[in-house]
Amino acid sequence: MTNTERDYQGYTPMDYDADSEADEVYQKCLAYLLTHAPIERDDTVVDIGTGTGIVALELASKCDHVLGRDIYDEWLRYAREKAEQRSIENVSFDHGSFRDPNVEEPVDVVVASYALYMAYDEGGETELRAAIDGLAALNPRWLVVADKIRFGPTQTPTDYETLPSMGTIATLLADAGFTLTDVEIITESAGVLVATR
Ligand SMILES: C[S@@+](CC[C@H](N)C(=O)[O-])C[C@H]1O[C@@H](n2cnc3c(N)ncnc32)[C@H](O)[C@@H]1O
Repeated sequence: MTNTERDYQGYTPMDYDADSEADEVYQKCLAYLLTHAPIERDDTVVDIGTGTGIVALELASKCDHVLGRDIYDEWLRYAREKAEQRSIENVSFDHGSFRDPNVEEPVDVVVASYALYMAYDEGGETELRAAIDGLAALNPRWLVVADKIRFGPTQTPTDYETLPSMGTIATLLADAGFTLTDVEIITESAGVLVATR
């Protein structure tokens, strides 16, 4: 793959990985997700909105199989390259969206890291509801969301996306049949939710 192919308005998957590495809040969310996601050894885990596969590749050592899904094929290609470079064989990356994750096999856990807020930013509560319903249709035992979430009463001025409030996400999860078992507030605009069905 050439650098030009990878270019997305000048922002490459390598840029994304470097930015994520340097982002203290992202790293705290990731660490919490990796420590607290209730994943068992023989589980199949879907990482929806996998991007460059940061979370999927980390989870590979904890379970049987990880399925990374995203709508951005160039980043999926990069994620596959990383898996190959690291000789990680129990991860696969394919096209799939929140609404239609493109997963046929039984799923134990769905994780979504810094991804679902995009549904809300794009289409508000309606789009986030459709996204959560799409993931619920996989019938996972657990859903773990590490995300940009508004915990405070108002949007922080530095947030350039419109973030869903904790209340909105909690309502949509409940409507989809999930019960929250853990809420970790990392900052006023980021945190990790663990929900079961
Ligand atoms: C900020 S990145 C996060 C990537 C990765 N989960 C991580 O933690 O580094 C958000 C990802 O969500 C993906 N995404 C956005 N809308 C999506 C949708 N409707 N279905 C699936 N993935 C989506 C984007 O393509 C992007 O790769």
